[in-house]
Amino acid sequence: MNPAVSLLKLLYFPLVINSATIPVEAPNPQRMLLSHLRGGDHAHVGDAESVHMVIKKALAINNQLQKLPAVDIGCGFGGTAEILTQKGFKTLGIDHDRSALTYAKKHHPSCSFADIDARAVDKYLRADFFGLITLFNVAYAIKDKQALLKALHTIAAPGSVLVVFDYTHRDTTQPHGLVDFAKQPMHPLVPAVFTHTLDEIGWQLVEQDDLTSYFITSYQALLAKIDEQRSYWETVSSPTVVATVEKTFSQILHLLQRDVLGGAVFYCVKKIAAPRAKL
Ligand SMILES: C[S@@+](CC[C@H](N)C(=O)[O-])C[C@H]1O[C@@H](n2cnc3c(N)ncnc32)[C@H](O)[C@@H]1O
Repeated sequence: MNPAVSLLKLLYFPLVINSATIPVEAPNPQRMLLSHLRGGDHAHVGDAESVHMVIKKALAINNQLQKLPAVDIGCGFGGTAEILTQKGFKTLGIDHDRSALTYAKKHHPSCSFADIDARAVDKYLRADFFGLITLFNVAYAIKDKQALLKALHTIAAPGSVLVVFDYTHRDTTQPHGLVDFAKQPMHPLVPAVFTHTLDEIGWQLVEQDDLTSYFITSYQALLAKIDEQRSYWETVSSPTVVATVEKTFSQILHLLQRDVLGGAVFYCVKKIAAPRAKL
């Protein structure tokens, strides 16, 4: 790697853990297929397009954000960190999936990556440090949203923008029953509960956009692509992996069309504590 890039990384992210020497398994095959299907190492709805949309809106909230480092939480294969870097952010991606991180480090050398659990970022990263904090289809995997938002609040610099892009559970009278590719139950955001938790932790909600129809179009396009290119993907991956991905996406699409599930993006800023009155 370019020594100037290494030095820059060290200066910006001195505390990150380097797990490159630890042997790891191959990346989750379903997630890998998804990322190939979406292109650009993304495993979230809207791929690169939604990352550009989020960056544009975050900069409209604070046009000085690029002066501060950015962190992509649950970065997976590193596609979002790559776009943030190209857009002028000094970017760190964190994830607890070592195989995904090994892939990200190899394919996106201009970004930094670290093996850190999202709920523990406050233990490993600098407090009041990051300007832009993004989560693309990650919060659904974390049941304890309060712990997550609290840890993120600690590492957020004054003026920072937090963006949470994810599935929502719109009709909580209907169970969704979803499990992810790691066979873990999914915990989509319940908007009213989530916005209350944001406020409680010290995040001010600036904007909340409903993306349900965008999610539906994206899943329809992805399923059509799998169908059109089935034999190719079955050779590149395997028929079982293709069938699992197809089954999961059909299930999500069905829930989105029945309005049980939705999609949304939340833009928040770190609240500034009111100065204490002098006695
Ligand atoms: C659907 S993938 C999205 C990956 C990436 N954000 C993207 O858009 O391509 C969810 C990611 O969240 C990560 N993740 C889930 N729970 C996590 C946690 N507690 N700490 C760190 N990463 C987590 C997973 O390992 C996975 O890489």
